[in-house]
Amino acid sequence: MIDASIPELPDYGEAALEQAFAALEASARTAAANLSGEAQVETFRLEWLGRKQGRLNEISSRWLKGAPPEAKKALGVRFNALKTVVEGLLEQAAGAGPSDAALKAEAIDITLPGTRRLTGAEHPITKTLNEIVSVFAALGYSVGVGPEVETDFYNFESMNFPPGHPARDTQDTLVVANQERRPLRDRLLLRTHTSPVQMRTMEQQPPPVRIVIPGKVHRNDAADATHSPIFHQVEGLCVDTNITFSDLKGTLDHAMKALFGSSVKTRFFPSFFPFTEPSADVQISCIFCGGKGCRKCKQSGWIELLGCGMVDPGVFAFAAQKQPAYDPKKISGFAFGMGVERIAMMKYGISEIGQFYAGDMRFLGQFA
Ligand code: PHE
Repeated sequence: MIDASIPELPDYGEAALEQAFAALEASARTAAANLSGEAQVETFRLEWLGRKQGRLNEISSRWLKGAPPEAKKALGVRFNALKTVVEGLLEQAAGAGPSDAALKAEAIDITLPGTRRLTGAEHPITKTLNEIVSVFAALGYSVGVGPEVETDFYNFESMNFPPGHPARDTQDTLVVANQERRPLRDRLLLRTHTSPVQMRTMEQQPPPVRIVIPGKVHRNDAADATHSPIFHQVEGLCVDTNITFSDLKGTLDHAMKALFGSSVKTRFFPSFFPFTEPSADVQISCIFCGGKGCRKCKQSGWIELLGCGMVDPGVFAFAAQKQPAYDPKKISGFAFGMGVERIAMMKYGISEIGQFYAGDMRFLGQFA
């Protein structure tokens, strides 16, 4: 509680005024000298200058208002002088900054070693993904993205996996629950590959298309040294007039040389994907033994790295529903898809896929 009690003036004579104001000033000075910290300064301000209970307000209402007319001037002069003094003291106290004790408590020992802040670095997956993308960017490809939660239509049906087709079983799919009431094509799932973005891209633009699609994909696979239920792919799609299988071979041969070194050879093995025809698996000559045969390539000299093929006319038929220019009689194209983790593991000699996701700084720091 602020003590703003002001004594009664014995009389309005010169001597009484002198004594009363001197006493007030002295008490203000003593109080101001002992202030430390913002809170105390504020209390002092309220105590003296507060509009309702401040001492100066009290003096004004008790002494000035009731004063006989002839004493009002002398009283007013002293009142104003006291007010100026108090305001000055307040200004000083507010500007004085923290007390010595407060400063000492905050002092920093500049001789202590500093706290090292670790700089971030690209995760090896991001780094590899960007590297793959830039190989294709240099060939004039642009970058596309699509949702990770995808519809059955984009992930499967439009990629030429008809409902109930056994090819669907090759991609163990994680589906979003409680959607039985929706038509199959609208049901949501976690995309099992980046291929649905081929269709999303073609629906958005007529040919020519040259695009790479990096992204996260999900499969209901048990984790082991080389499998993870979440991993990354880079998809590629090229559609134009007169695109042939040799364009596909030349493009991927160049990309593998750009990623693994110019001495790497590629070969194309017949394979099957519902959305490409013909389809191929691409193998590169073993980067560990140069093709002579070693444990890594199971003595074959070759390592299988990605899937590819010529875009199936059935896929173009779905695209043509929105963009009639995807007429397989007039255009053709190729597509490919590669696993980013697999490529990163090869490039950096990593044998456990789990290392990418464990968040172990001893592992990650090696890629900084
Ligand atoms: N989507 C295929 C997969 O995940 C890879 C692929 C992409 C194959 C494009 C051919 C063409 O297995």
